[in-house]
Amino acid sequence: MNASRGASRVVALVPAAGQGVRLGESRPKAFVPVGGIPMLRLAIDGLLASESVDEVVVIVPADLLDETRALLPVSPIPVRVVPGGAERTDSVRAGLDATPAATHVLVHDAARALTPPDLVSRVVEQLRSGSVAVVPALPVTDTIKSVDAAGAVTGTPDRSALRAIQTPQGFDAELLRAAHATGVQATDDAGLVELLGAVVHTVPGAAMAFKITTPLDLVLANTLVAQREPGPNESREAVPAP
Ligand code: C5P
Repeated sequence: MNASRGASRVVALVPAAGQGVRLGESRPKAFVPVGGIPMLRLAIDGLLASESVDEVVVIVPADLLDETRALLPVSPIPVRVVPGGAERTDSVRAGLDATPAATHVLVHDAARALTPPDLVSRVVEQLRSGSVAVVPALPVTDTIKSVDAAGAVTGTPDRSALRAIQTPQGFDAELLRAAHATGVQATDDAGLVELLGAVVHTVPGAAMAFKITTPLDLVLANTLVAQREPGPNESREAVPAP
């Protein structure tokens, strides 16, 4: 089982306190249903199914605390809900403040709702083998170009040296706390620890861990959920209608 491996305590933070509605839906993204289940719930189910985390802390807008608690799975692994802050970094910091006993912290996007549990395990295993920061990475298939403000191409980086980075991102808890104590705002937690000079290791990512960002992503995610069998933590009947 997950708990009590030595003195280690792996806590997964799921920042979902943004009001972002880029999907074109009327709800904050994490609460948009995929296959009838809120993305946030699917993301939590994946973390729990990995059997690699000892606790999950979900960070949501203050006015959605009760709604969030109502959609949580029944689980022997504690899942807590805390209010977020103005920026994503503030929300992650609120999650860190709620978990003083964590030795390792995962930060996971609710929008990566279909992340396979074995990807979560891969990140945790890499942390346990001594890495202080771990990110799932996939090779880039498109050619990537840099452009200037007018859209003119300024360069073509070597694609073989590029990776698309997913979540969960895993960290030694002390390192992540130090990174967040700098007060720098970032879209990515690994970016913060890179600024401290820490080495960030990659593990192989997973296509199913794609981020549901656009309406097309939502169509794909709905199709994929419709095709799969519910996992052990996914009792669809237990989820109230959104
Ligand atoms: O807006 P963006 O896509 O960068 O948000 C990334 C993640 O951070 C989302 O899951 C969003 O809910 C979360 N977030 C947050 N608190 C904020 C802003 C964003 O937890 N204040």
